[in-house]
Amino acid sequence: MEKLLAKVDRRIKKLGDELQQLYTEHPDATIGEITFQNLLSGMRGMKSLICNTSFVDPYRGLFISGLEVPDFEHKTPEEIFFLLVTGTLPSKSELEELSSELKKRSKVPEYVWKMLRSLPKTIHPMTMFSLGILAMEGESVFKKKYEEGLHKDEYWKYTLEDSLNLIAKLPSLAAGIYRILFMNGDIIDSDQQLDLAGNLTQRLGFNRHNQGFEELNRLYLVLHCDHEGGNVSAFTSRVVNSALSNIYYAASAGLNGLAGPLHGLANQECLHFITNIHDTLGNKPSVDEIRKYVMKTLDDGKVIPGYGHAVLRVTDPRFTAFMKFGDKHCPESPYLQTVKKLYEVVPDILKTYKGGKVSNPWPNVDAISGSLLYHYGMTHYEYYTVMFGISRVLGFCAQNTIARGLHQPIIRPKSVTNSWLKEHLESQTVAGH
Ligand SMILES: CC(C)(COP(=O)(O)OP(=O)(O)OC[C@H]1O[C@@H](n2cnc3c(N)ncnc32)[C@H](O)[C@@H]1OP(=O)(O)O)[C@@H](O)C(=O)NCCC(=O)NCCS
Repeated sequence: MEKLLAKVDRRIKKLGDELQQLYTEHPDATIGEITFQNLLSGMRGMKSLICNTSFVDPYRGLFISGLEVPDFEHKTPEEIFFLLVTGTLPSKSELEELSSELKKRSKVPEYVWKMLRSLPKTIHPMTMFSLGILAMEGESVFKKKYEEGLHKDEYWKYTLEDSLNLIAKLPSLAAGIYRILFMNGDIIDSDQQLDLAGNLTQRLGFNRHNQGFEELNRLYLVLHCDHEGGNVSAFTSRVVNSALSNIYYAASAGLNGLAGPLHGLANQECLHFITNIHDTLGNKPSVDEIRKYVMKTLDDGKVIPGYGHAVLRVTDPRFTAFMKFGDKHCPESPYLQTVKKLYEVVPDILKTYKGGKVSNPWPNVDAISGSLLYHYGMTHYEYYTVMFGISRVLGFCAQNTIARGLHQPIIRPKSVTNSWLKEHLESQTVAGH
C-alpha cells in the first residue's frame, strides 16, 4: 500500500498548504451570504463545505479532478477510487498494488452472514447492506489505534486502511445479500483473478459473459462513485466521520441517507414507475400515452422519479453515459425504449408545470440505470440502490480520508428557533428603515 499512502500523503499536504495560504491571504473573506430562503430550502446552494474529491458543475455535471464523465466512464472502480483519493489516475504498478490489496482483504466475516441470514426476508436490501457494514465496525483499525492513543496526523492513514478493508468486501457483501434475499441463499466464492466488478457479477450468480452485464456493472460502480460533499449521503457520512466515528459507522450512516426515495432509492422508484407504465399501457406505450400518464402522476401530487436535481441544470452526463451503453448493448429493450419516450416528454412538461417551479426538468442518473439492470434479468428492483451504494462508498471513503488528513473539525452548524428568526428579521427591518 506504500504507493497509495505516499500519494494520498502528498495530496493532503498540497491541499492543506493551499488552504493555509489562502487563509493567510484572505483571513476575513466572505464566501457567500446566507439568506432566509437558504434556511427554508434545505441549505440549497449554501457554500459551507470543502470537498476536493469531486465537483458538480450545474451545466456540465460531475468532475473528478478535472475529468468529466466521458473522460472516466470506461475506467474501473479501482481506478476511480485511486483518482478520488489521490487526485490522479493510477499508473500500472499503482493499480496493481491497489487491486492486490483489495483482493487480500475481500473476505466477509462469518458472523456477518449469520446476522444477515437471521433477518426477516421482508427486510429491504439497503437495510441489510447498511447493517452488514455496521456489523463489521469492530474490525476498525482506526478505532483500535485511536484507543491506543493515535497522533492526529496519523488519523487519515488508518481511515484509509479501514476504507480499503471495507471497499474490498463490498462486492461480496452486496452479492451475498442478493443471494440471501432473492436466490437460494448460497454464497458464491470470489475469484481472486477478478476485479471488483467481475467479482460482483460472478458472486451475484449472473453469467459474466452475458452480452455486457459485467461491463454494465463496471459502469454502474464507476458512475455513482461520488457527487461532491453536500448530497444527503455524502454529507451524512462526512458529519458522522467528523465525530471521529470510524468508516464503518460513517459509511453505514451515509447509506441510510442514500436509501431515501428522493436520493438513491429513486433508481428503484424509476423502475417501479416504468413497470407500472407497462402494466397499464403495455410494453410499447406511445409517446402520447406516456405524456398523459406523466400528467396524471403529477396531478396526483407525485414526483416523476429520475427527473430534477438539486445542483444539475442539464441532462445528467451519467444518464447520457448509460444511454450510450443501452444503445450499444440493448437498443430494443422495451424498458430502454420507455426511458427514451419519457425523455422525449417529461422535460417539456416539467418546464411549464405549475408555473415552471421545477428547477431542473432534465433526467438524472436514476432515470435510466435500473432499466438496464432489468434488461439483464436483475428484476428485483428493490436491490438497485445497493448497487448504487457499493459505488458511493468509494466516495465516502475518499472524502473522509481527506477530511481526516486536513484535520477538518467536527461539523456543527448553528440552528435557530422561530423566535430567534423573528427577532433577528425584525431588528434588521428596523435597522433598514
Ligand atoms: C432531486 C430533487 C429531490 C431535487 O429537489 P429540489 O432541489 O428541491 O428540486 P426543485 O427546486 O426543482 O423543487 C421545486 C419544486 O419542484 C418539484 N419537483 C422537483 N422535481 C420534480 C419531479 N421530478 N417531479 C415533480 N415535481 C418535481 C419539487 O417537489 C418542488 O415542489 P414543491 O415546491 O411543491 O415542494 C427533486 O427534483 C425530486 O424529487 N426528483 C425526483 C426524485 C429523484 O429523481 N431523485 C434523485 C436525485 S439524483
